[in-house]
Amino acid sequence: MKINGTPYRTIWPTADNAAVEIIDQTQLPHIFTTLRLDTMRDAERAIRDMQVRGAPLIGVTGAYGVALSMRHHASDAALKATCDMLLAARPTAVNLRWGVEKMRALLAPLPANERATAAWIEAARIADEDVAINASIGQHGGEIIRALYQKKNATVNILTHCNAGWLATVDWGTALAPIYTAFDAGIPLHVWVDETRPRNQGASLTAWELGGHGVPHTVIADNTGGHLMQHGMVDMAIVGCDRVTARGDVCNKIGTYLKALAAFDNGVPFYVALPTPTIDWTLQDGVKEIPIEERAAIEVTHISGLCDDGQVRTVQLTPSGSHAANYGFDVTPARLVTGLITERGVVRASADAMRVLK
Ligand code: MRU
Repeated sequence: MKINGTPYRTIWPTADNAAVEIIDQTQLPHIFTTLRLDTMRDAERAIRDMQVRGAPLIGVTGAYGVALSMRHHASDAALKATCDMLLAARPTAVNLRWGVEKMRALLAPLPANERATAAWIEAARIADEDVAINASIGQHGGEIIRALYQKKNATVNILTHCNAGWLATVDWGTALAPIYTAFDAGIPLHVWVDETRPRNQGASLTAWELGGHGVPHTVIADNTGGHLMQHGMVDMAIVGCDRVTARGDVCNKIGTYLKALAAFDNGVPFYVALPTPTIDWTLQDGVKEIPIEERAAIEVTHISGLCDDGQVRTVQLTPSGSHAANYGFDVTPARLVTGLITERGVVRASADAMRVLK
């Protein structure tokens, strides 16, 4: 995607291949800045502190983290320690495990002196693959939007939660890829953007992305979606996800489940866009089996924003002394999901239908 006319990915190798660079997403939308990751510890910190975030992107950053580590220490012990440390950075998105384990599987059989080169090539390949996968998700999901438009013959209103756009992947995004594809094909559409408390990835990242591409959108408070659906103001919802079980339960940013319930109650199609590496074939019951990340209470008790003097500041929202809980994700049962939009086509969220993706 382009920023002020310049094409960017969210992660890329430096010109001399000595390090990788990322867009620091904690600074958006008010400050656009890039960061250099020289070491595995830099990559691990960027994932944990959410300078990079979104399931596919943390998978790719994990892969580059292994590659950076192999430059300095390529023994079996170092490979194990590197993988363990990166895997612990964020627990819910299965893509991190996918990216790191793919690297481990490639590197473990190689002699130590061949690992650094092989790792760098593989991390770059995984990044390119992510871009191709998301472009394909865009094509398949774009057809759904086109069909809605042909039926309605008026602007298609789409609700999305959190940020599953190009910032959450290497490029294109998952949930937003169909939106970009349809928009670029001239289909009139408008996006309702859930603010997505507590970290506000919708208000700060999705709104920034959509605005940059010229896509009409409106930011709404998280509690608004049900009302809009009751009044026929949402034609479909598309969200991303951090892990999907073998029977189609979907884990995504906290609040997704409530939107799925409202969509079901109002007959609004509720789609989930995902690259197939987001499927965890080892799990069935998402509510019971997926580990849900709990983050610091300060993300709930405090909020950051741009002040009149042009400075970004953080202020306290809650009374001093109030406790806050910060669950990062929830699980939407498969029965509430209309379809899974993957790079290999749209399938029902059920064990039987999903078998073709194995
Ligand atoms: O905590 P985050 O910002 O990493 O959560 C991101 C989401 O929940 C996305 O919807 C999900 O990772 C899919 S990204 C294509």
